[in-house]
Amino acid sequence: MTTIAIIGAGPGLGAAVARRFGGEGFDVALIARTQERTSRLAADLAAEGITARGFAADVRDPKTLEAALDAATATLGPIEVLQYSPLPHQDFMRPVLETSAADLAGPIEFSVYGPVAAVQQVLPGMRAMGRGTILFVNGGSAVVPDRDRAGTSIAFAAESAYGHLLHDTLAAEGIHVAQLIIPGEIVPGHARKDPAVLADTLWRLHQDRHGFRSFADDLGS
Ligand SMILES: NC(=O)c1ccc[n+]([C@@H]2O[C@H](COP(=O)([O-])OP(=O)(O)OC[C@H]3O[C@@H](n4cnc5c(N)ncnc54)[C@H](OP(=O)(O)O)[C@@H]3O)[C@@H](O)[C@H]2O)c1
Repeated sequence: MTTIAIIGAGPGLGAAVARRFGGEGFDVALIARTQERTSRLAADLAAEGITARGFAADVRDPKTLEAALDAATATLGPIEVLQYSPLPHQDFMRPVLETSAADLAGPIEFSVYGPVAAVQQVLPGMRAMGRGTILFVNGGSAVVPDRDRAGTSIAFAAESAYGHLLHDTLAAEGIHVAQLIIPGEIVPGHARKDPAVLADTLWRLHQDRHGFRSFADDLGS
């Protein structure tokens, strides 16, 4: 069986996607900064019959991300699905007039250098398999910039452009690249924005394989 690597695997959406894809037979590589938390989540999933392993990496340090993806491939097998969904840091979300050039370094590392490093690392394996899926998950500011969240708005726009370029470039090779926009907050119990519902939406994006951008809910909701 092949592997889904979830970059930014926490207790919310990350765990729900691990359960959804794991339930379909994927092995799951859980990647976040804290080894202990990812290992604990992997143990919880193992108790549910899902093969999962935790790997520590900081997406702002591409070398750690590349090493984690290599370790995941060596431990679990080829990565067929890559999901990039770390939760952006609070200090990226400052008003536009209070955002300096230096303040943009973090958001750009997080939302541009991180995804590019991750994609470059897994793409040779996907091309060798002749199939793959790359999923980007972003908030609504990727589509409508928010003046109070300048860092994420600017960096998400760049991440979206990168994803869209990949979509257009890789479709002919059987590698589907998609972006899910989640407007507003993830809300447990919500009809469209409960983590398990969002995980199901991401599973369907992986299955259906057309179009780049999808919305989990209406913008502004
Ligand atoms: N939560 C919301 O209301 C909301 C709203 C709209 C969109 N989204 C999108 O949903 C996704 C996140 O889902 P979630 O909020 O449910 O989170 P989650 O899957 O519960 O956890 C995300 C994980 O990202 C990890 N992370 C943060 N910074 C990182 C870094 N520098 N390097 C590696 N990992 C890092 C954190 O773990 P460590 O601290 O251990 O690194 C965190 O546990 C993101 O794509 C986000 O843009 C969320």
